[in-house]
Amino acid sequence: MAQKTLQRLATSALAVLPLVNGQQPGTLTPEAHPQLPTWKCTTSGGCVQQDTSVVLDWNYRWIHTATGYDSCTTNSGINSTLCPDEATCAKNCVIEGTDYASSGISTSGSALTMRQYVNGTNGLNSVSPRAYLLGPDGNYVMLKLLGQELSFDVDLSTLPCGENGALYLSEMDASGGRNQYNTGGANYGSGYCDAQCPVMTWKNGTLNTDGSGYCCNEMDILEANSRANAFTPHPCTATDCDKSGCGFNPYAQGYKSYYGPGGTLDTSKPFTVITRFITNDGTTSGSLSQIQRLYVQGGKTIASAVQGGDIITASACSSASAYGGLAAMGRALGRGMVLVFSIWNDASGYMNWLDSGSNGPCSATEGNPANIQANYPGTHVVFSNIRWGDIGATVKLSGGGSSSSSSSTMRTTTTATTSTRSTSTPITTTTPSGATQTHWGQCGGQGYSGPTVCAPPYACKTQNPWYAQCL
Ligand SMILES: *[C@@H]1O[C@H](CO)[C@@H](O)[C@H](O)[C@H]1NC(C)=O
Ligand SMILES: *[C@@H]1O[C@H](CO)[C@@H](O)[C@H](O)[C@H]1NC(C)=O
Ligand SMILES: *[C@@H]1O[C@H](CO)[C@@H](O)[C@H](O)[C@H]1NC(C)=O
Repeated sequence: MAQKTLQRLATSALAVLPLVNGQQPGTLTPEAHPQLPTWKCTTSGGCVQQDTSVVLDWNYRWIHTATGYDSCTTNSGINSTLCPDEATCAKNCVIEGTDYASSGISTSGSALTMRQYVNGTNGLNSVSPRAYLLGPDGNYVMLKLLGQELSFDVDLSTLPCGENGALYLSEMDASGGRNQYNTGGANYGSGYCDAQCPVMTWKNGTLNTDGSGYCCNEMDILEANSRANAFTPHPCTATDCDKSGCGFNPYAQGYKSYYGPGGTLDTSKPFTVITRFITNDGTTSGSLSQIQRLYVQGGKTIASAVQGGDIITASACSSASAYGGLAAMGRALGRGMVLVFSIWNDASGYMNWLDSGSNGPCSATEGNPANIQANYPGTHVVFSNIRWGDIGATVKLSGGGSSSSSSSTMRTTTTATTSTRSTSTPITTTTPSGATQTHWGQCGGQGYSGPTVCAPPYACKTQNPWYAQCL
């Protein structure tokens, strides 16, 4: 039924449209990017709303013959009769816009919801979407996070063992490899690459005719479900990457009750994830020396899992050394990287690398996608209130346990603070003077305005210019 309607629509549309040469976007489904406002923050100017949206990856789209409705892709890749080379493929085939809801993607205000399964005509479809942050100019937003921080709120309470709600950065081309044959480019989600060097039908927006992989620097900010989580840098050389990466997973470090439903960080509720890319000299052009993770939940900064902070240091990151180490990761962050959102599960390994064995509390088999589909068909992740900029400027860290008051200096900000910042304390609140910080809690650092005195017998120890902790 849908197919017949499409054919009628298309026949009339084709009759009136000028002929195109080059692999242009198709005309059957208009591409309407769901809006997703984000914020860019500076210490001096507060947070400023950005005109951003999300775009579904190119590989998830219908690519069909320019004159009809036959798919140009096959189960194993591209139809080589229609697409022997880029120019011929561009003449023969067009790429369509996406119906975002049926791709498992929706936005509301500053929140992006991604679903693993959607209802289809024959039952559940596993859609497992991947999407990118797009700017108003039709290019990806290039986040330059060296010496900066990135914050967002996340609700992953419905993600069971084996599911992965991921927010990460890949050093893709800003235009998605837009060219004369691929005029859509980033507007149609082309150009994906990552540190697993995936071999894909399309490479930087053009037909991949030699079966080569497409490696690029990748910084995994959050790969998580409700039971386990990790953040992991994956730097690359020109030809290969640190595929395993030197990640940080609190369970794997021995802190088994830190993260989970009812844990120190309670994953049954939303929380704020702050990731700081700290350089050796504190500038945005220095060498990346530490990646630090902080959490805020229910208006409180949550104490780190590890004494001294949840930090990946350059010296501890030995697996990356053959690929330039944290310094190489830092140079990519300085050049700018694309923000990627995805939700997926793993039929071959059941995501055990994230949440089972020494990595988390899940059994070796419960992450089987068949189990997830049968028992958690509504599983989804929500990312919201995405903001980035100067360290300390994106979220006010108010110290554990203290209630907020308006007793001291208020920072003026623009639109960002008016958004629904559900889990982190708004930047405009501060902590009563005289409050003391508890063991492990933050007690100082640039951009911090919570209690600076530690409850006895603890003393405030500076870890880096942005973080001091009661130890
Ligand atoms: C490839 O496309 C040609 C021309 O449209 C078609 O005849 C053929 O069946 C297609 N092959 C596959 C494997 O889909
Ligand atoms: C990707 O394509 C763009 C546009 O053609 C080009 O400028 C860029 O150098 C390409 N990047 C890589 C890594 O091939
Ligand atoms: C699919 O449809 C059923 C019945 O309307 C509904 O209960 C369920 O929540 C839907 N599932 C998803 C994943 O949207």
